[in-house]
Amino acid sequence: MVGKLAVTFIVLLQACGFSSSVSSSPNLFKNDQMPLTSAASEEIRVPVLLGVMSNCPDALYCERVFNDVLSQVGPLVELDVTYIARVNASEPTYGVTCRHGENECRGNVQQLCAIRSTRSSSPLNLQAMSREYDEPSWRTWWSFITCQNAGGRYAPGKEDIAKQCARSVGLPWVDVEYPGGASKLGVGSCFHNEVIARTLLLQSVERTRAMGITNSCTVFINGVKTCIRDDDKWKDCKAGKGSVDDFVKLIHKEHKRLNRKSP
Ligand SMILES: *[C@@H]1O[C@H](CO)[C@@H](O)[C@H](O)[C@H]1NC(C)=O
Repeated sequence: MVGKLAVTFIVLLQACGFSSSVSSSPNLFKNDQMPLTSAASEEIRVPVLLGVMSNCPDALYCERVFNDVLSQVGPLVELDVTYIARVNASEPTYGVTCRHGENECRGNVQQLCAIRSTRSSSPLNLQAMSREYDEPSWRTWWSFITCQNAGGRYAPGKEDIAKQCARSVGLPWVDVEYPGGASKLGVGSCFHNEVIARTLLLQSVERTRAMGITNSCTVFINGVKTCIRDDDKWKDCKAGKGSVDDFVKLIHKEHKRLNRKSP
């Protein structure tokens, strides 16, 4: 539960936003830039992007809603997250200022490292490969994020929790080398590698800024800014009111549209 102090903090800071002079351009995130076809069905998955800050209560709420959405329409979705922070060359560790402090920057990096870890080269395993074609690839890192969130808003950023969560979702903490030269980046090795950590966070923050995303959480569905969760409320919703059902319906609709056979 959110304590009195935290409530005051949220009210004073007007939720988790950063002012920005960049005008918003909702269609930067285009589906046709991403190869999302599944080998089995040639189906195009609906891109869903969440703009977040890892210690923001609105982001945790939004991620809980999307966990319910994904439990219904997960196979139709290609999920991605992008982090909101301010680029600041005076920041010694990551070169960005995070709204909720250094712990949030660390949380963002741990999540980006979990994503990277699922994408790094793995050993040849035909069974796993054929499964990957049917299964969206975000499931493992999404489980890592929901595992962190289960510890409360300040859990993302805590190393012991990140380590436990990596283990519980089956991601390595230290690098794994396989015979034949393949290797897998460990979540912890990534987190502790200053160059990788800084680069991952900066790239994500730059992309967020280029898309004009300033509020955590901002939801994009198939390239369109669909809803913002801010100050404990859904705002600017294009379809419905931000319920699980509304998002499920929209994803079904977009999936039909994306996969309509051209005449
Ligand atoms: C940039 O980082 C420095 C060092 O942490 C900090 O004192 C300053 O407030 C930051 N500036 C902004 C605009 O966030």
